Amino acid sequence: MNNHEKVKELVKLREKAKEGGGAERIKRHHDNGRKTARERIALLLDEGSFEEFDMFKAHRCVHFGMEQTEYLGDGVVTGYGTIQGRLVYVFSQDFTIFGGALSETFAEKICKIMDLAVKNGAPVIGLNDSGGARIQEGIESLAGYTDIFLRNVMSSGVVPQLSGIFGPCAGGAVYSPALTDFTVMVKKNSYMFLTGPKVVKTVTHEEVDTDSLGGAEVHTTKSGVAHLAAESEEQAIEYLRTIFSFVPQNNMENPPFVPTNDPDNRTDEVLDHIIPENPNEAYDIKEVIYRTIDDANFMEIQPNFAANLVIGFARYGGMSVGIVANQPKYLAGVLDIDSSIKGARFVRFCDAFNIPVVTFVDVPGFLPGTIQEHGGVIRNGAKMLYAYAEATVPKVTVITRKAYGGAYCVMSSKHLRGDINYAWPTAEIAVMGAKGAAEILYAREANAYEGDRAEFLKVKEVEYAENFANPYIAAKRGYVDDIILPNRTRFRIIRALIMLKDKQDSNPPKKHGNIPL
Ligand code: HXC
Repeated sequence: MNNHEKVKELVKLREKAKEGGGAERIKRHHDNGRKTARERIALLLDEGSFEEFDMFKAHRCVHFGMEQTEYLGDGVVTGYGTIQGRLVYVFSQDFTIFGGALSETFAEKICKIMDLAVKNGAPVIGLNDSGGARIQEGIESLAGYTDIFLRNVMSSGVVPQLSGIFGPCAGGAVYSPALTDFTVMVKKNSYMFLTGPKVVKTVTHEEVDTDSLGGAEVHTTKSGVAHLAAESEEQAIEYLRTIFSFVPQNNMENPPFVPTNDPDNRTDEVLDHIIPENPNEAYDIKEVIYRTIDDANFMEIQPNFAANLVIGFARYGGMSVGIVANQPKYLAGVLDIDSSIKGARFVRFCDAFNIPVVTFVDVPGFLPGTIQEHGGVIRNGAKMLYAYAEATVPKVTVITRKAYGGAYCVMSSKHLRGDINYAWPTAEIAVMGAKGAAEILYAREANAYEGDRAEFLKVKEVEYAENFANPYIAAKRGYVDDIILPNRTRFRIIRALIMLKDKQDSNPPKKHGNIPL
């Protein structure tokens, strides 16, 4: 072959590699409403920025006639590119080649980009669409998975790791996404489970379909395994790109600053009236969030899981922050097992990646009852406490209404190294709600009272509320730094964040703590 022919041969081989499992399988894939691995990469990255690795890599399996079947690239497309001009490493599993099943060489390709990501300090985004371990390979496949898991763990807290689930994600395939920071699924077309419906039926005699067992809806509302459920592949990729825009390249950098035309000192009088007169009446904390952040641009994470706690990314004055907020509209904003796990993981992510945490507090306490106690609300609630306590990023807190009992302590209080703690004049900071407190403190007098017992307790309740359920006692002790006008909340948060921009804080030297898992 002369040199000219060698060049032509290369062009041919590259084209062949890009055909994946062939036109017929691609058509079937498209007919199922799914995009190919390369189409997903094209949507994810800046146009023309993708540089591919290991296009010619092929499996080494010699069992089950596999030596007769070889596909260039072996079922996964890997490389790097940019999103909004920022470097990112990507792998995208190709279902048209052996159902995207993972082989030894497939795993080597993923490990290569994961190693590069850590060395060069850039995030990794994995687009998953796979039938799991490649059955023909056996132990090599298991070894390959475990090599990836190890890298997921070693990269955790070093570079952000994001996962998209675009098709099946079964067996061992689920644990790599589970180890990453955020997982986005596509409704109807994607699912994650350890064992599929057939095995479930054999072992537990339970009849369940794929979607009800591990679809996007289930994992973003019940299990909390995934963070967002998209309506389409395009939307899932948009979610990944948006999360990416809020996070830094690695744990040594700050998140990108995004200038805004939204004035820092914008006031919002609606906030002065947002808290209902009746303390038991709900309002939407998301309205407070939207009204204070830059351009009302809030990327909510896990909106439908443990909705009593709102978490997500936003910016104040161009600075990226993680927001954690009790939601009075849902379960009165109580903390429970799921919301504690949700909040703790998010706070730890923000802390690992230098993203300040802004906390809005309106919490009546922890949810009482046997379901919670027996489910380990003590251990799980402690996760939230732990996460806030160990976080050294700037922590700005605004108490809008209730901050009662243990939940007061937990929600980024001064005592957990909250840097700036503000309260609105409507704040009620006390050991418990006025009604409960009156019933305990005045039970004896109420029983001895000859008139209307309920009326007597009501008077005591009002007395307690006036004397204790306010922000001034906490302010007198310096537990809140200032009682602020609600309409000035945005400005006060931005100023606090600017003041804390170069904050230095640390924890005692240790191998790692022992968070109550
Ligand atoms: C090899 C596989 C495969 C696998 C699918 N294929 N899964 N090849 N190993 N794990 C191949 C099929 O043979 C088929 O090849 C092509 O991919 C498409 O698969 P279909 O079954 O035709 O597609 P579909 O009907 O959409 O079903 C997809 C599926 C199903 C639900 C993923 O294929 C399936 O159940 N696969 C097995 C899933 C599984 O049990 N995986 C192993 C888990 S154990 P052709 O040539 O016909 O196109 C595991 C342990 C790891 O992962 C532990 C690590 C710690």
